Amino acid sequence: MSKASKDLDISPIFQPITINKLEIKNRIAMSPMNCNFTDPDHYMSRQQMAYYAARAKGGTGLIITEAQAVSEHPIADTYRKYNNPFLTNYKYVPTQSNFVEHVKSFGAKIFAQLFTGPGRQGSNDLGAAGIVAASAIPWESQIEKMINGVTDDVIKAGARLAGYHGDIPPLSDFDKFLEFAQKIPMLHLVGQTPREITKEEINILVKDMGTGAKVAKLCGYDGVEVHACHGYLVHTFLSERSNQRKDEYGGSFENRIRFMLELIRSARRAVGPDYPVGVRFSAAEDLPGGYTAETAAKMAKRCQEEGADFINLSHGSYEAMSDFLPNTEGQVIDKAAIIKAAVTIPVMCPSVHNPENVVDVLKNGKADIVQQGRQQICDPDWVNKVMNRRFDDIIKCTRCNRGCILRFVAMLPVRCVRNPRTGQEEFIDEYMKRPILPIKQKVWHEVQELTEKNPSEIWEYTEEEMIKAVTVE
Ligand SMILES: Cc1cc2nc3c(=O)[nH]c(=O)nc-3n(C[C@H](O)[C@H](O)[C@H](O)COP(=O)(O)O)c2cc1C
Repeated sequence: MSKASKDLDISPIFQPITINKLEIKNRIAMSPMNCNFTDPDHYMSRQQMAYYAARAKGGTGLIITEAQAVSEHPIADTYRKYNNPFLTNYKYVPTQSNFVEHVKSFGAKIFAQLFTGPGRQGSNDLGAAGIVAASAIPWESQIEKMINGVTDDVIKAGARLAGYHGDIPPLSDFDKFLEFAQKIPMLHLVGQTPREITKEEINILVKDMGTGAKVAKLCGYDGVEVHACHGYLVHTFLSERSNQRKDEYGGSFENRIRFMLELIRSARRAVGPDYPVGVRFSAAEDLPGGYTAETAAKMAKRCQEEGADFINLSHGSYEAMSDFLPNTEGQVIDKAAIIKAAVTIPVMCPSVHNPENVVDVLKNGKADIVQQGRQQICDPDWVNKVMNRRFDDIIKCTRCNRGCILRFVAMLPVRCVRNPRTGQEEFIDEYMKRPILPIKQKVWHEVQELTEKNPSEIWEYTEEEMIKAVTVE
């Protein structure tokens, strides 16, 4: 154990924090991460239940789920290979509520991340419709922003998996390589040209966001988060790099954030004032013509004014993969501090794995909550180990990406090269056997309230079907 760890004052990590009216027991959140565990028909799987339960059991205060689809409109469906869970419809409620109950029984709070589709980072070859974005501009891969582990061998393996058996130019000859990558959209190394999304389509997604938020609340999630990060559809509106629209969704700052604010308002309308609603966007772009942390701070302020209860930061996009999945510790901390200074609601900073750095962020007010992604994949017990000062027992994520994101891109379920238990949680008894909790009546009251208030809005189901949907066996 290093001297620094031995003397570390860990108390900032274990201070509870309140988001809207919800108390979270500590300052560690698990970042949203799609691990390819969802059942093929978009229902939560047993493996998902056990995987998230492991992180809850390990002490993580807040779990934010992977991106979950709120819309089944074809424009939101150009991403199928990644098989996101769905919150689009009543029929997902029974499995989802069982999932939520399971994770919560291990002591964590859980938010659902709500996703309106991949935008230009989807693929024309994967879904029913062509890809759409703020404007008809493809994303551009940047060689200097590659993540750890992307080597010629890995590219070759991915290409073979995608059924391509021809020659592959080396990454060092990047222009030629990009030309080749056009042939294999499955590799996601080069963008296709999207079509500009119409206002009618924007309105559909805004409405679907409300439905998704309502369904999430009914399933028992403790809060929801609007996904506006990582270069996907909503992000393309935020940036002048990707938004050159001439209508009220492009041009000025206020126009570029309009879609994101509409989504936040739609979620808020659906769940009422007392329920946590937040948003995740990239803290900056660090690319020519991209937005800065100062602009992101203005965005955060506007989101707060429009009713967001928290700001969850991330970084990067497919154009800047090593910002999205940082190769080094703490890349977003300074940006988080700039953004936090602009708002009074809690701000979450991603990608801080080392206990000393986590304490530094919290103690010095650079963010209110620290989020860990790959570190939580690698060691579900990070929080409990820190709480018990077992610093040397932490299985440290090396940001190698081999078991997680590189397998994910190859459509394989996530594993971790440092922890053989990751991805196999459904076969580990302690994560499947849950404490038995009494059924709460609250959910049923909520359904009654909703039906009374909005008889014709989204609740097109009979009372009998609803009872079936919320009944816990
Ligand atoms: C396998 C994998 C899947 C991810 N899926 C999502 C996602 O669904 N939504 C999202 O906002 N971020 C997603 N991310 C990004 C993470 O939330 C996080 O921002 C990123 O991994 C950086 O944090 P880290 O260095 O702690 O891993 C994903 C990351 C990984 C590794």
